[in-house]
This record gives sequence, structure tokens and C-alpha cells, in this order.
Amino acid sequence: MGRWQAVKTRNPMRVVILPTEQEASDFAADFIEKLIIENENAVLGLATGSSVLLTYETLIKKYQSGEMSFKNIITFNLDEYIGLKPNHTKSYRHYMNQKLFDHIDIDTKNVFIPECFNQDYELSCENYESKIRQHGGIDLQLLGIGTNGHIGFNEPTSSLKSRTRVKTLTQNTITNNSRFFENNEVQPSIAITMGIGTIMEAQNIILIGLGKHKSKAVADLIEGPVSSFCPGSVLQNHRNAVVVLDNLAASNLKLYDYYIHTEKMYLKYMC
Ligand code: GLP
Repeated sequence: MGRWQAVKTRNPMRVVILPTEQEASDFAADFIEKLIIENENAVLGLATGSSVLLTYETLIKKYQSGEMSFKNIITFNLDEYIGLKPNHTKSYRHYMNQKLFDHIDIDTKNVFIPECFNQDYELSCENYESKIRQHGGIDLQLLGIGTNGHIGFNEPTSSLKSRTRVKTLTQNTITNNSRFFENNEVQPSIAITMGIGTIMEAQNIILIGLGKHKSKAVADLIEGPVSSFCPGSVLQNHRNAVVVLDNLAASNLKLYDYYIHTEKMYLKYMC
């Protein structure tokens, strides 16, 4: 059985711990590459933020060296700030163009990001859900995690069955993301995000956690109860979820040694 095939048919959440941010990000990039090689028309769910940056850099290198193409790939981003024009330098659309899309051969008509400027936002959310459905759903969703356990912009206490909607951000998230805004810039405090129910419908999920500051959220996600207080913990119920961590992000895990061991066994017997 090939590695991707094995991933597709497994059930418990796979926890992969690697020494460095680069190795964890390369793992995620390889994971995405395998999916695209198997299915050149794959539908990818994409994320923004710092956690996915090295993964995008590695994907760009793979494209530039001719290893892979994004020509027929469809993408849906998790979220977007309400009130920023798409070309605003702090919009997630701008981030995606700068960090990935401008450097690969993706067809821009295959790129979807929630419409968040001068819209009927409720309609925009409904349209986003129907576009995902029209494309047959998401094959692989890439995620980061907030220090408060959020995925996308699904803040703590979000319904575990929520769909794409307008969400008010917590002060914790606003403060964490203020590093992306200049002092004189207005930072939005509301956004459109795919819901937790929407994310959970992806066929496969890979979440990247990097750095000591993520270690508590990561421990709550993997070892805590499944709870809307840590939205990421819902991945424990997903049939094909992989959490890839650098050592620092894994440093609060009680069963750290066990995850290292189970991954060794997985590689030995399943690949
Ligand atoms: C942001 C984004 C999420 C991201 C998370 C972690 O607010 N909405 O999609 O995964 O928070 O961000 P970072 O990777 O920058 O720590």
C-alpha cells in the first residue's frame, strides 16, 4: 500500500513530531505534493498566518524545480477579514498572492477566498459553501492553530457544527495578529471563516503547529477533551487528520514518547 493510500484509510489522528520548523513544514509540503501527484484536479483548503509560510516556500521550490504543477488545482481559503479590499496589503487574498499564488502556475479562476468587501456577507457565506460543494468538497485542508486553539477564525466556543459565517474575533486573536498591521492601520475585528463543520467535511486534514507559543493549544488539541473551548480538538474526531509539529510545539504533550513511537511503527508497517 502506498503512503498516501495508507493515510487515506487510517482512522486515529496521526501525530508527527519533527525536530525543526523546516522539517515539519517540509513534511506538510510533501504531503500536499503526494495528493496533487495522485489527483491533479485536487481541491485544496488553504490557510494563512506564520505557521504555513515555510510550507508554501517549499511548495514554490517544488514547482520551480518542475516536481509539481498547480495548473488544475482548485483552492479555497479558510477565511478573510471583513472590510479590507481584496488588494489591501493586509488582506488574506494579498497574503496568498504574495506567499504562494504569484509564484506557481495556479489558474486564478480556480482560487476562492471569502468575499469580504462591500457584500451581503450572509449571501457571501452561503455562496462560499455552495462553491465548495460544486467542486465536490475539499480533498485536503491545511490548517494552523491559534494560541487559543482556534482553527480558521473559529474562536473558542464556536459551534463544532458551524458553517461558513461572519465571526467576531477575540481580543487574543486581534492582539496576536496585530503584528501584521502597522500602527496607523485599522485592524479588522470581524472576518468570514469556514465553519468547523465545513472544515471537518474535508477528506483529509493536515494541521501544522510550530513553536513553543503553540504548545498549550497543541496539547489541548491532541490530549484535551473534544470541546468548543479548543476548536482544534475536534480533529480528534476526523477520520484522516494529521498533526505535524516541531519539537517546541510538541513540548507540552504528556504522551510525547508514545507519539514518537507510534509514528515509527506507522512508518515501519503502513508505508
Ligand atoms: C490566524 C488565521 C488562522 C491561522 C492562525 C494561526 O488568525 N486565521 O488560519 O492558522 O490564526 O496563525 P499563525 O500561524 O500566524 O500563528
